[in-house]
Amino acid sequence: MKTVIEPYRSRVVEPLRMTTREERERYIREAGYNPFLLLAEHVLIDLVTDSGVSALSTRQWSAMHDSDESFTGSRSFERFREAVKALFGHAFVIPCHQGRAAEHLLARAVIRPGDVVFANTHFATTRENLEEEGAEVRDLPIAEALDPTSPHPFKGDINLGRLEAGIAEAGPRARMVILTVTDNSRGGQPVSLGNVRAAREICRRFGVPLWLDAARFAENCYLVKLREQGYAQKAPREIARELFSLTDGVFMSLKKDALGNTGGLITLDDPAWAEAIRARLLVSEGIPSAGGLAGRDLESLTVALGEMLDEGYLAHRVASTRRLGEQLAAAGVPVVTPFGAHAIYVNGRAFCPHLPNEQLPAWSLSVALYVHSGVRTWETGNVMQGRHDPATGAWQWPDLDLLRLAVPRRVYSQSHLDYAAEAVVELFQQRSSVRGLRFVYRPASLAQFVATFEPA
Ligand SMILES: Cc1ncc(COP(=O)(O)O)c(C=O)c1O
Repeated sequence: MKTVIEPYRSRVVEPLRMTTREERERYIREAGYNPFLLLAEHVLIDLVTDSGVSALSTRQWSAMHDSDESFTGSRSFERFREAVKALFGHAFVIPCHQGRAAEHLLARAVIRPGDVVFANTHFATTRENLEEEGAEVRDLPIAEALDPTSPHPFKGDINLGRLEAGIAEAGPRARMVILTVTDNSRGGQPVSLGNVRAAREICRRFGVPLWLDAARFAENCYLVKLREQGYAQKAPREIARELFSLTDGVFMSLKKDALGNTGGLITLDDPAWAEAIRARLLVSEGIPSAGGLAGRDLESLTVALGEMLDEGYLAHRVASTRRLGEQLAAAGVPVVTPFGAHAIYVNGRAFCPHLPNEQLPAWSLSVALYVHSGVRTWETGNVMQGRHDPATGAWQWPDLDLLRLAVPRRVYSQSHLDYAAEAVVELFQQRSSVRGLRFVYRPASLAQFVATFEPA
């Protein structure tokens, strides 16, 4: 059978509300042309993120009812810790409230001013947390990752030649190497296990720890199964165990692949780093057996650590995201290929060639798409990654200016995604009507969450 069906059915539903074009024009104007600042009830289909918005399973809800909310030493944490250890294999398990909290704890605990941190691509919050502690961060993507249509199957790979040269040059300042799996900022592209193994070999040689930002490791492992030689017969969990065995530590948001509405995690082997992180945890997050999470959060996450690696679930997820991408590609919409698992990315500059970088093509497209259809999306491009030098007024634009259609897990049906595809295609057919925007208010960092704009 060719039909892609959801491997679950609904027992609880949440109504969606249609709005008119006139209403949406008003809502987005009132939100300063920032889709982040819209009220969610004014959005029809919300593809702004796949983070913290998953639908929970009956098993997760059932486990949450059986939670232990004791202040310390709770049964819920013990279950969580055992499940994490069995999967990740590291000695220490440190929970926290979300991914950027994990990054903050790690950066505060181990970064010294002048340290150099290397990654395939640092996610925006990772970069900010490291830079706040005085680190110099270096992104080392492979050349193919900069070409939105290169067919390379693992565009999340780190550039091994540049990594080796960079570590050698940084000497004792080389603090750690991070592989973001999958590489969210560059189109949700996976990292191959061959690349992880080679990066580990370099790290071992120079005595530099190798870490993962593992927010989407399950999807990465399923794409390894599909695309990397030697993995077709392996279960996603087996691939994940192999992946983690190559690392010294993992930090991750549990709000993505781990199907949590909240949650973050650090697992690692180094006792000195673990002690330093726990000391920070006590100050800013909570006690070591909770990290600011409720017992019911931990229960829900423990169940999810099994569900997220279910092969039928992952097969559907990859197939349904691919179908969305194929619908866009078939209509000529410039999309990043090969398709990842959590989102489809549209090349903003190619979609809106009439808009210069200053008029923020992908951001303007996101606003136009909302007005056209009620579909909300997220830019990962000029607004999110552009750097502005206030002294000279000069801009440094990122390699890619992308619009991301992120697919929440287990939330929308195929017809919702078909509607979103149709909306993008309709807008593409009248793309010269997309009006450029310019900043009205731009904060010094993480602009996308609070910046406001006006028509250019
Ligand atoms: C790759 C990656 N790392 C870290 C984070 C931050 O996680 P959180 O949103 O839970 O703080 C995100 C969030 O989108 C992400 O995509």
